[in-house]
Amino acid sequence: MKLLSIASEIYPLIKTGGLADVVGALPGALTGEGVETRTLVPGYPAVIAHLGKAKILKRYDALFGVRATLLSAKVDGLDLFVLNAADFFARPGGPYGDATGNDWTDNWRRFAALSRVGADIAEGAVKGWRPDVVHVHDWQAAMTAAYMRFGPAHSVPKVVTIHNLAFQGRFDAEIFGELGLPPEAWGVDGVEYYGGTGYLKAGLVSADAITTVSPTYAEEIRSPVHGMGLDGLINGRVDRLHGILNGVDTDIWNPAADPSIPRTYSGRALSGRIANRIALEKCFGLDHDDAPLFIIVSRLTWQKGMDLMIDAMDHLVALGGKLALLGSGDHPLEGAFPGAADRHRGRVGVQIGYDEGLSHLMQAGGDAILIPSRFEPCGLTQLYGLRYGCLPVVARVGGLADTVIDANEAAVNAGAATGIVFAPSDPLALHGAIGRAVRLHGDKSAWQAMQRAAMRADVSWSQSAARYAALYRDLLAQVR
Ligand code: ADP
Ligand code: GLC
Repeated sequence: MKLLSIASEIYPLIKTGGLADVVGALPGALTGEGVETRTLVPGYPAVIAHLGKAKILKRYDALFGVRATLLSAKVDGLDLFVLNAADFFARPGGPYGDATGNDWTDNWRRFAALSRVGADIAEGAVKGWRPDVVHVHDWQAAMTAAYMRFGPAHSVPKVVTIHNLAFQGRFDAEIFGELGLPPEAWGVDGVEYYGGTGYLKAGLVSADAITTVSPTYAEEIRSPVHGMGLDGLINGRVDRLHGILNGVDTDIWNPAADPSIPRTYSGRALSGRIANRIALEKCFGLDHDDAPLFIIVSRLTWQKGMDLMIDAMDHLVALGGKLALLGSGDHPLEGAFPGAADRHRGRVGVQIGYDEGLSHLMQAGGDAILIPSRFEPCGLTQLYGLRYGCLPVVARVGGLADTVIDANEAAVNAGAATGIVFAPSDPLALHGAIGRAVRLHGDKSAWQAMQRAAMRADVSWSQSAARYAALYRDLLAQVR
């Protein structure tokens, strides 16, 4: 089966969050299911720099007004289609905005172009390769489903995955005329969304299947609290909705063979973690002692509950804990954390920035990873924490609820507990969870038993890749 995957990020070429990890890891996992994936991504500078020898498959003289080429290349085992359109993608800053965090004002055009080219490939633009199924991720690629639905490739099955309903790709109504869609595409059953244009919305009404990245989030987005304006639409299409949990790339995230940590280790030899802990403490200017060492690796945003951490930090230190935080995101939060670290020299260390290698060291040396999210479609850092024996302390939402087994008495006695789960996502419950973690950490053998249970948990892609493959096959069977 040939699958065209389309996304705006792919690890290891371009990443701002978990989307990249998923889009980079799923193709390898699907190979074992008999699915051959090619992934279409924008030609950002970081992507172009990695391409090496690329083949030109198609030239566009005026793709939404700019010259572009469609390239194919193989990078790090990934079969890529790259939309090389310098006017759209060869820019400094991030994939969605400039260095100061302002969104590019032509994002509607940049990602309509990506989606248009995705639909072209579905329609046969690449000689000798036509996909059986098209799978698009998030709003940046969602319009592919709309272009396909209103074009010659309408019967090719289209899967739209929601990684985060908070980002919907909403633009003015006026752009509709420039999208190249037929007039009937405008309307409640098309791209119109609350009087404007909605890219994710257009994808969701056009998709043959909608997936999201955990079963609990699939339920949550049916309610107004988490549905973010789309709950009505989602409830109307619930027969098409599937919650399929993310996995992790167990080769890249493998404590027994991780090149970015000083000492590799396994669940049987947890003492190997000590060298990593010492390196981590040095890196963050923390005291070296036996106190429970919490880590945070996160976007610094409201979604992630990072504002709650400012106060919780004082509480954590008062209970005898230490904290190493690595993150970047909202400017007020980026400004607030270093000050909090200054108040607690040796107990709290903060690095503002993005550092993939350091994130591995933190999972390998920390005792517990704190994730107090207000909502979390899946979350990957708790999965990395499980795999590395850095026990997740998580809010009971979305994929966090689906992947961490709370250390209640019964679960501890049964040897099943893998972390701490708290609710609701508020200061009181967070404080309570930190307190529970500190107390549990005091019982070394119970803590190590939890670490071993966590490291045994199956966080691989195998089950979920099988579910995606089964979904693709079902959709194909319906059209053939
Ligand atoms: P989201 O995509 O919502 O940010 P996920 O938990 O799904 O959340 O994925 C976040 C990914 O980004 C993980 O791979 C995590 O390790 C990584 N990450 C987040 N912040 C940083 C950072 N400051 N430095 C390095 N890696 C980070
Ligand atoms: C989004 C979500 C996160 C999820 C990731 C990958 O960024 O916020 O919860 O893990 O996508 O699916």
